Amino acid sequence: MNPVHLELKNVSRAVFRRVNKTRVKTQILSSLDLIVQRGELVTIMGPSGSGKTTLLRLINRLAEADSGSIMLNGKDIKEYDPFELRRKVGMVFQIPVVFRGSVNENLAVGMKLWGYENDIYALARDCVIPLELLNADAEQLSVGEKQRVCIARALANQPEVLLLDEPTSALDAASAEKIETLLLNLRKEKGLTMVWITHDREQAKRTGGKRYFLRNGRLEEDHE
Ligand SMILES: Nc1ncnc2c1ncn2[C@@H]1O[C@H](COP(=O)(O)OP(=O)(O)O)[C@@H](O)[C@H]1O
Ligand SMILES: [Mg+2]
Repeated sequence: MNPVHLELKNVSRAVFRRVNKTRVKTQILSSLDLIVQRGELVTIMGPSGSGKTTLLRLINRLAEADSGSIMLNGKDIKEYDPFELRRKVGMVFQIPVVFRGSVNENLAVGMKLWGYENDIYALARDCVIPLELLNADAEQLSVGEKQRVCIARALANQPEVLLLDEPTSALDAASAEKIETLLLNLRKEKGLTMVWITHDREQAKRTGGKRYFLRNGRLEEDHE
């Protein structure tokens, strides 16, 4: 897998440059800058409603910034075909939503869409999905298992960046730990670039990545 190079055209590697986002007259993101290097993991913390999800959604254009620019591999994300952008930039949500059908069918979606030759067994292994679950009805899985399927499904698109919106918040402690370990292994083994939102500062510290707080529409680095 070829990791992404996130950069601001001709200046530095960055995703966000003076990005502003207002919702119903409230400014949520205010001249926000963020630089994410190729293969880097950054975590973003912040109170509920501070705009963390909005910030992630801007990266794969589930939402649009009012002004400012967001670059991916030196190219403004608006210049990408949205479909291609969402393949390159995978997203994992707090509450996993599986597609109807078997686990197998969920994992095969990327192949169908993009013609990729993914090894389903390797995907399952990478995401700690027991092989005997491959033929199970995805809707019947536990929340933790569903989240692993969602991560595997995102990987099946062979993304360059993975956006993680509180991926362990809806899980019990044991499942949360499994997902956290799985994500950290993926980063180590595949060099995936990750933007990981978490409300858990200890988790953010365990990732070993650069940590930010989203406050008053901007990111402040957590140096402690
Ligand atoms: N679709 C929407 N329409 C209007 N306001 C929204 C919408 N989505 C989020 N907001 C508002 O934007 C702010 C930031 O939300 P969000 O990005 O979800 O924050 P966080 O993920 O940090 O909890 C909140 O005040 C929220 O109420
Ligand atoms: Mg959120």
